[in-house]
Amino acid sequence: MVKLIGKKIIYLAIFISGNGSNLKSLIKKFKNNSKIKISLVLSNNPKAKGLFYAKKNKINYKTINYVNKKKAENIILNLLEKNKIEVVCLAGFMKILSKYFIKKFNKPILNIHPSLLPKYKGLNTHSRVIANKEKFSGCTVHLVTPVLDSGKIIAQKRIKIRKNDNVLKLSKRILKQEHIIYYKAIRKFVSIL
Ligand code: GRF
Repeated sequence: MVKLIGKKIIYLAIFISGNGSNLKSLIKKFKNNSKIKISLVLSNNPKAKGLFYAKKNKINYKTINYVNKKKAENIILNLLEKNKIEVVCLAGFMKILSKYFIKKFNKPILNIHPSLLPKYKGLNTHSRVIANKEKFSGCTVHLVTPVLDSGKIIAQKRIKIRKNDNVLKLSKRILKQEHIIYYKAIRKFVSIL
C-alpha cells in the first residue's frame, strides 16, 4: 500500500453502473472538502443516471466498454494513474474487479453493500433478508478484495426491519443510511491512510 501521509489532496474515483444516488450524495458532501476531491467518475453503463451528476458538477467522467474485461480494466488502470487517484470507491458498480486489477492498482478500493456483511453477500439482499424474516438489516462499507463482498469492514449501520417492510421500503431506508455512512467511512478511512 502507498503511504499518503503528507499529501495535500487525496483524489477519489467513484465507479457506478446505475442510479448513482450514493455518487450524488458523495459529490454534495465532498464539495467543500479541501483535502478529499472526487476527480473521476467511471461507469460501465453509458446510460447510468449517475453520470448526469458528474457532468452537472463538472467532474471528469467516462464510460468504459466492458465487452473485453481485461481491456476495460487496463483502460481503467491507465485512467486512475493519469488522474492520480489514491482511493477508488465503488457505488453500485455492477462489475466484479479482477484479482489482476486489485493487485495492479495496489491502493485502497472501498465498496458499499446493502446488507450487514458478512451476511447476504451478492445480489438481491433485501428480498432474501425479508424472505428469511430477519429482524435487522443495514449496510456495510468494506475494503474490496478478490473475494466478493468479503474484505475488511470499515463501517456498518444496522436498521430494524418493520412488520410491513417490502423490498422497496427497506431498500429506501437502507439507501438513506448508505448515504450517511459512506461519506463518514471515506473521510475516516482517508484520514488514517
Ligand atoms: C446501493 O444499494 C449499494 O449498496 C449497492 O448498489 C446500490 C447503488 O445505489 N452496491 P446507487 O446507484 O448509489 O443509487
